[in-house]
Amino acid sequence: MDETRFVEMIFPEQANHYGTLFGGHALSLMGKAAFVAATRRARAPVVMATSEKVEFHVPVRVGELVELMARVTRVGRSSMTVTVDAVSEGLISGTRRLAVRGSFEMVAVDDAGKPMPVAQPPSHDVSEEALT
Ligand SMILES: CC(C)(COP(=O)(O)OP(=O)(O)OC[C@H]1O[C@@H](n2cnc3c(N)ncnc32)[C@H](O)[C@@H]1OP(=O)(O)O)[C@@H](O)C(=O)NCCC(=O)NCCS
Repeated sequence: MDETRFVEMIFPEQANHYGTLFGGHALSLMGKAAFVAATRRARAPVVMATSEKVEFHVPVRVGELVELMARVTRVGRSSMTVTVDAVSEGLISGTRRLAVRGSFEMVAVDDAGKPMPVAQPPSHDVSEEALT
């Protein structure tokens, strides 16, 4: 499981008064992507410890698509660094631009909320059975 991806249409309720994606909503989408990527890697509950530098490169307009791509780029004992890119796409033009990039430190925790080691990734077959 190398990359977690999902797409979100940007509608007016996710926008600010400039008609572009509200920064707080962008952070929420990115945090969700980081959470899913880290949980898939650890196959354990994870919490966010920090959000590192987040760079807003270009605004995303209402009516555009945002594709979120999250990758675990470092695995420590219980912590993982997840890098998230948010790419905007004009649905008609097909023009894609890197809109936001950020990284997040996620920590695997046990039932008591205490840090727990992240296991080595299992080797797995992607069989047709697993995809159904
Ligand atoms: C994140 C949390 C579990 C860390 O607990 P802790 O007892 O302070 O953890 P430790 O000091 O033993 O560190 C555990 C790991 O987290 C990392 N870590 C902890 N705080 C960190 C920080 N502020 N920045 C980066 N990494 C951090 C440590 O480097 C360590 O990594 P490693 O195991 O890979 O070496 C704890 O602070 C917590 O529960 N915070 C609230 C999380 C939360 O509510 N998030 C929002 C909702 S998901």
